[in-house]
Amino acid sequence: MIRITTPKFRDRDVTDEAVYLNRRQLMGGAMAGLGLGLAGPAMAAPSGLKPNSFEEVTNYNNYYEFGTSKTDPAKYAHTLTTSPWTVKIDGMVNKPGDYALDDILSKVSVEERIYRLRCVEAWSMVIPWNGFTLSSLLNRAGVQSGAKYVAFETVARREEMPGLRYPVLDWPYVEGLRLDEAMHPLTILATGVYGKSMPEQNGAPLRLVVPWKYGFKGIKSIVRISLTDRQPPTAWNKANAREYGFYSNVNPQVDHPRWSQATERVIGAGLFGSRRETDMFNGYGDEVASLYAGMDLKKNY
Ligand code: MTE
Repeated sequence: MIRITTPKFRDRDVTDEAVYLNRRQLMGGAMAGLGLGLAGPAMAAPSGLKPNSFEEVTNYNNYYEFGTSKTDPAKYAHTLTTSPWTVKIDGMVNKPGDYALDDILSKVSVEERIYRLRCVEAWSMVIPWNGFTLSSLLNRAGVQSGAKYVAFETVARREEMPGLRYPVLDWPYVEGLRLDEAMHPLTILATGVYGKSMPEQNGAPLRLVVPWKYGFKGIKSIVRISLTDRQPPTAWNKANAREYGFYSNVNPQVDHPRWSQATERVIGAGLFGSRRETDMFNGYGDEVASLYAGMDLKKNY
């Protein structure tokens, strides 16, 4: 089990809210320093976010390789071997190769990002991730000028992942981003939650987090990252193109064909969860709306 997280956050079940607020302010400052011009606390997450408990984050999951119920991943994902771990980076890069996770982590800085996760199924949570920018890894691999998209692939091991016996999706799970989305400073590869190593059910040891998109874009347990000039296939789009598009930006105005996306059930808020209005781009519009200027977001759903 790889245990690399920012040392000061290590071995802690819960961090009290005051510490979070403090850290959020620190991070806002850091991002402003990068010239992003983002307001302090609003940068880490839309203001007023209270993280869900570690219990909630690790016991209500989608990871179909381990079963389709929300509690299956917590029950079965511990069988996944996450060390050693290698990520193949290939396609249109200057330095293709098999990158050992330890080596990847030795050259990036892991920080905390508190983001809302909005699932396409219309529920949401707030998760304090630890991770590093995807751009830092892509820059290390050297993206070639013709590359336009990034494709991702989840590990597929039948002997460790009982869900692979069922053709729910065309395994392995694959996902993709446009290159500018991948390079955006909000896009991270997460290595942990709550300052602990990533639990298997959340996508250990390395998973994508793109906070303005529906949760299914956040592909888990990544073993391959490929740079390409063609829009890559994505697992849910292959399963049902009408219901799941390539972009999948959180958008309260574009309903799923079978349900409204205007509101979401907040996990953990009361016995049955409370509802809140869904924010355009999940609340990250100030940072990302410009990526889609001039695009018809109803067509490019
Ligand atoms: N990645 C893989 N490989 N398999 C999956 O089934 N589910 C997705 C995404 N990544 C999934 C996946 C969906 S639908 C969501 S909402 C998020 O993971 C859930 O992440 P969490 O369980 O860490 O909250």
